[in-house]
Amino acid sequence: MAIIATTPIHGSGENGPGHSGTLCNLPLNQVIQGDSVELIRELPPSSVHLILSDIPYGIGAEDWDVLHDNTNSAYMGSSPAQEKAGAVFKKRGKPINGWSEADRAIPRQYYEWCSTWATEWFRVLKPGGTVFVFAGRRFSHRCICALEDVGFSFKDMLSWVRDRAPHRAQRVSVVFERRGDEASAKDWAGWRVGNLRPTFEPVLWFTKPYKIGTTIADNALNYGVGPYNEEAFLRYMNSPDNIVNCGFASGESGLHPTQKPIRLMQALIDLTTKPDQVVLDPFAGSGSTLVAARSLGRSYIGYEMEPNYVAVCRSRLDETGLLPFMRLT
Ligand SMILES: C[S@@+](CC[C@H](N)C(=O)[O-])C[C@H]1O[C@@H](n2cnc3c(N)ncnc32)[C@H](O)[C@@H]1O
Repeated sequence: MAIIATTPIHGSGENGPGHSGTLCNLPLNQVIQGDSVELIRELPPSSVHLILSDIPYGIGAEDWDVLHDNTNSAYMGSSPAQEKAGAVFKKRGKPINGWSEADRAIPRQYYEWCSTWATEWFRVLKPGGTVFVFAGRRFSHRCICALEDVGFSFKDMLSWVRDRAPHRAQRVSVVFERRGDEASAKDWAGWRVGNLRPTFEPVLWFTKPYKIGTTIADNALNYGVGPYNEEAFLRYMNSPDNIVNCGFASGESGLHPTQKPIRLMQALIDLTTKPDQVVLDPFAGSGSTLVAARSLGRSYIGYEMEPNYVAVCRSRLDETGLLPFMRLT
């Protein structure tokens, strides 16, 4: 269990924009080691302006990404080809063949896992506040349903287009060649098993509904959130489109197998929050959300289960004052 030093702030109450309102304790500007599903219960209601998180996708890419009870031994193995290529993900998820009842339960169990934290996310977010979730293409629909079912509005799906994407799609002719079946290898030349190159990832955009009988403008005055800042977004992107191209800055990547670019996180934070507001990432990884928040003068709260990634977060945050803002302008 984490040791949490709290920072008293004015703010997280119901009465004012940003930090005006009731006095309460929040673990501001900290990365807390532990299970966020439990730790988030310690936050006061309506205390956070934005939740921006790259959640486990449930595709079995790493141990922390296995969110079901399917014990099929193919899961979490690694293929010789993967090891030879030094692939980003050291493990391979189980092939999606839908052979067994346990296979078919995986998406539903992902929904159930999302439901273990969705209610708390709803409780701690301010009315009108935004949730951005990076979720995988295969199970993001289950995450959408879990968040909708606790009261969030699903506002949009952004598409983050990466500059690099590993393409794992085995040529089926290779299998026939290995079997010595040259005729089938020739017949199936050019055919692959798997997917097209995964160049985009969904970013799910939710809002917590504002109070009945008020407008979004009232909500902005009451809670400091609700509208989005297009002008700020255009400092990072060339157009206000929901397809967002963004790669890593030189030397930035390599800290986490599912790391996200700081500039992308900055764009999303600047789009939906003002300086001094509170950004929460319950699945912090190497801390890209937190570094982006700090660089933009926002307060942050990060939870991360793995102690080695907590250490990476802290060291990146220590250096953040030295980082240049990664804006286009
Ligand atoms: C998808 S990664 C986030 C990577 C991050 N976006 C970055 O740029 O480095 C998700 C992280 O959540 C952590 N995690 C998984 N379950 C958790 C839990 N219940 N509580 C806290 N952290 C958890 C994992 O250890 C992993 O580092």
